[in-house]
Amino acid sequence: MEIARTIAAAREQVAAARRAGRTVGFVPTMGFLHEGHLSLVSAARRETDFVAVSIFVNPTQFGPNEDYARYPRNEAADLEMCASAGVDLVFIPDVDAMYPAGEITTVHVDELTTTLCGPCRPGHFDGVTTVVTKLFNIVQPDRAYFGKKDYQQFVVLRRMARDLDMPIDVIGCPLVREPDGLAMSSRNALLTPDDRRRARSLHQALCAARDAIATGERNAVALVTAMHRVLERAAPEHIDYVSVADPDTLQGVPRIDGPVLLALAVRIGDTRLIDNMVVDPTGPPA
Ligand code: PAF
Repeated sequence: MEIARTIAAAREQVAAARRAGRTVGFVPTMGFLHEGHLSLVSAARRETDFVAVSIFVNPTQFGPNEDYARYPRNEAADLEMCASAGVDLVFIPDVDAMYPAGEITTVHVDELTTTLCGPCRPGHFDGVTTVVTKLFNIVQPDRAYFGKKDYQQFVVLRRMARDLDMPIDVIGCPLVREPDGLAMSSRNALLTPDDRRRARSLHQALCAARDAIATGERNAVALVTAMHRVLERAAPEHIDYVSVADPDTLQGVPRIDGPVLLALAVRIGDTRLIDNMVVDPTGPPA
């Protein structure tokens, strides 16, 4: 496994793979890797010949009062996990390598970023789309893999690649859960034992809405109320949003008459957690 810390070194490694006729799969991450990331690497390994992972905690996607400084980091453990997962290249730039000139260019995706996490995290998605564009330009993969735990991020990046004619397949991979249902996230490491227990309420709330849909509930307000009720039992510090939305446009829907995205963002202790579930009332149970 090669480790590249500069853009030039990363480009060189990918170019060598390309010269050897290999297709390139890419898993962009912010490190502190877990089973969710490894499932993206496995998908990339199955579908492409050369797998690159980037590890970069991108400062531009964190707001001034968010958790950039306390975001968990463990490079040595990440490298071990990448090596055992069969990753070919790990790209670990530092902030100066990625933003040497205090860039003034950003990539903005409209509409899809005006809902769900968008209003709660001003500037967040511009930070994500800009850094992912830069990473795509550096690695130039054939396929890039993102977890659907960040469902909105996946939809935004898929649209960005399409609108900007990036020759990259943006693949969304299923969210991976802990045995008690908590969605895997690097931020889970920031939870105290009490927070961790209360964090189960996110998945429980989604399950309550899914079960209500299965027994015939079609009114979005009733579903939002049911999810709030479950969340509030865990006394969260703040509920940013609970939404029943169209899985493609991410806009709220009044009634369920096809596949629907149940999504929520909640602060437990000092940690903001998100979770979601796509439920199709006409299909098999989620
Ligand atoms: O999902 C993440 O880890 C980040 O938002 C990403 C896509 C690596 C961009 O920094």
